[in-house]
Amino acid sequence: MSPAQHLPTQDFAADSWGKSGVYANANGAVVAHPYESQRVGENGPLLLQDTHLVEVLSHFDRERIPERVVHAKGGGAHGHFKLTHPIPELTSAKIFSTPGTSCPATVRFSTVGGESGSPDQARDPRGFSIKFRTEEGNMDWVFNNTPVFFIRDPAKFPTFIHTQKRNPQTHATHADDSTDFWNYMSQNPESVHQFMYLFGPRGIPQDWRHMQGYSGHTFKFVAANGSWNYVQIHVLSQQGVKNMHPDDAAKASPDCHQLDLFNSIEKGEYPKWDVKYQIASQQEADAAGLDVFDLTRTWDRKKFPLQPLGELELNQNVANYFAEIEQVAFAPSTLIPGIEPSADPVLQSRLFSYHDTHRHRVGVNYQQLPVNAPQVPYPIYNFQRDGQMAFVNQGTRPTHLSSIQPPTLKPRPYDLGKTAGYVDGHAISFLSGVTMRDFEQPRELFRRVFSEEDRKLTIEQISGHMTTSRDPKSIAQAVNIWWLVDNDMGNAIAKNLKLEAGSWQKPLAELSFIGSHNFAANKEAL
Ligand code: HEM
Repeated sequence: MSPAQHLPTQDFAADSWGKSGVYANANGAVVAHPYESQRVGENGPLLLQDTHLVEVLSHFDRERIPERVVHAKGGGAHGHFKLTHPIPELTSAKIFSTPGTSCPATVRFSTVGGESGSPDQARDPRGFSIKFRTEEGNMDWVFNNTPVFFIRDPAKFPTFIHTQKRNPQTHATHADDSTDFWNYMSQNPESVHQFMYLFGPRGIPQDWRHMQGYSGHTFKFVAANGSWNYVQIHVLSQQGVKNMHPDDAAKASPDCHQLDLFNSIEKGEYPKWDVKYQIASQQEADAAGLDVFDLTRTWDRKKFPLQPLGELELNQNVANYFAEIEQVAFAPSTLIPGIEPSADPVLQSRLFSYHDTHRHRVGVNYQQLPVNAPQVPYPIYNFQRDGQMAFVNQGTRPTHLSSIQPPTLKPRPYDLGKTAGYVDGHAISFLSGVTMRDFEQPRELFRRVFSEEDRKLTIEQISGHMTTSRDPKSIAQAVNIWWLVDNDMGNAIAKNLKLEAGSWQKPLAELSFIGSHNFAANKEAL
């Protein structure tokens, strides 16, 4: 039985449609004169019997599907992942454990806040999603180009995103009205690490080829014997990291990043990334005080050095943007045995959210579309039937788990229950409140990673963006937070904004945050 028998697969290497064909209605009936609508006499009204006209108009009326609620602007390409350093002792996943393994992959890059027509060169984090078509099923890595994120409590995600979108009354973006943008930051200081990345040099990448991808979240590698470790994944550009100066961004064309990728691949200059990982056992994480479930923090690379795993190459442009990029659907829960999610609350929520949005955006049977269909060497047998566009509906098979005509049931190589270390309470507990620790890593980033020029530009960019806020109180508290990260930085922003000295410099304990605990104000909670 061929793999293609039950789910459609497509060879993206060739435009299978070719260039020629006979013009016909969707039912296949030929249409001799596509530009001649049927009418009653020379000046008469049109005829409802003109199936061709009715079809072209009504199909056109339905051409748009909802754009992604975040990450709407993007582009991508196809390629493959090649394993270079097999780790069978760490994961049962064949793609990472069997020497010489490779698999086809599709990658989509994106900005976060803007609409589908917004500029590529916006100051924003970038999405970096990879769909691995492995012989054990699809695995999606839905990463960003920064190693941390704005939140560690998923309940904040929708409201946070609202502050990155248009104002509900004026419909202006935060570039013209940054009131809500800075109010959010002033009330949620754990986001300051990601805000530092956002306003720092990496806030606008030169292009997608010159940027990194990070899992941000902790995942788990689980070996066939059930032993498991926490991992963070890094996808590091072999082209190096290059960023765009805001002056150049102001002049760049709105589709500059998607065209850069397209043109590079057309020229045969295939971008490549090294796939690496950091690894920590539960004991090592405990001993190092590692916040494995806190997405606002990174793991120390000296204590947990990067380990090589494989290489990702993009070498093939899409033949059709809508079919292969707009309809591609990535989900952090699309995983294969050997890679498990950690208990990071934001990741746990994402395990729900993406399939949910795909069912709304693309339709309940979206995994039957060629770009999303798994390419496994066995026919897929389950009881997901019917619904819109069920063109693979599993024929005469029973509608339940029947003993008369049963599917083959293959166990996972390990007992999933035994990989859930956190149930015993061994993992570092998750802090939902704010402490001075929240400022340590952004301080390191500002002081030790950024160059003098980066620091100057970051301060300039923050001050400039803050000038469009209509709420001085939010700005005062936001500047206060930058000051808690680094006094000189806060003072410099305050000077640019002409804030009165002393009026805004408060210790963390004196600040309050709507919806979040301030642990510095409540010593018992510390
Ligand atoms: C896209 C939800 C956090 C990376 C999306 C989409 C939703 C979503 C609904 C649109 C998907 C689609 O329409 O196909 C959430 C929620 C989050 C969260 C609820 C937190 C609670 C994150 C984080 C990262 C991330 C932490 C990165 C580490 C992405 C990427 C895309 C995306 C890369 C674009 C996927 C594509 O290219 O199609 N997210 N997100 N998200 N998200 Fe998240």
